[in-house]
Amino acid sequence: MADVTLALAIHLLAVVVWIGGVAMVTTVLLPAVQSFKSAAERIAFFESIERRFARQARVATVLAGASGFYMVQRLHFWPLFAGARYWWLGAMVLLWLLFTLMLFVAEPLFLDRWFRQRAQRDPEGTFRLVQRLHRVLLALSLATVAGAVAGSHGLSLFN
Ligand code: HEM
Repeated sequence: MADVTLALAIHLLAVVVWIGGVAMVTTVLLPAVQSFKSAAERIAFFESIERRFARQARVATVLAGASGFYMVQRLHFWPLFAGARYWWLGAMVLLWLLFTLMLFVAEPLFLDRWFRQRAQRDPEGTFRLVQRLHRVLLALSLATVAGAVAGSHGLSLFN
């Protein structure tokens, strides 16, 4: 089972970098940027930082997903997805899917362009929207981490 332990280590390193980055952007970067005078300046600065983080997040998402599915396969966890007791397994995959779609599909295809156009039209509103979306994603991510740790050590909300 050394391979599963190694996969778990890779999984958690990826999750730390990825969700830690989301926490940093949401709770430090965005509030700091809010003190910039012009909303257009805020968006430009936020974009240049977030683009760098998006690159890291893409690598972390691939590593978390690959190691996660490897563990599911090796531990024969597939049937567990059907029960409410292991809701945290489904939550991990849903959250992973959400970030994967955003980082690999929506952003390169249309989200980047849509975001820039909206920011030109309404910089204030766009900044508020970015803040709100980050808060929601961070809350979901933290709930998933807490659920996964508690659940995989025997504590679950459902029986
Ligand atoms: C494709 C997506 C994912 C799959 C298939 C997956 C699968 C797994 C599996 C099988 C385990 C081992 C559970 C055990 O040993 O009982 C695990 C652990 C864990 N996963 Fe995921 N995961 C995925 C994504 C995520 C994401 C997005 C997060 C963070 C939000 C996350 C956070 C965790 C944590 C914190 C643990 C450690 C639990 C512990 O041992 O204390 N996973 N994951």
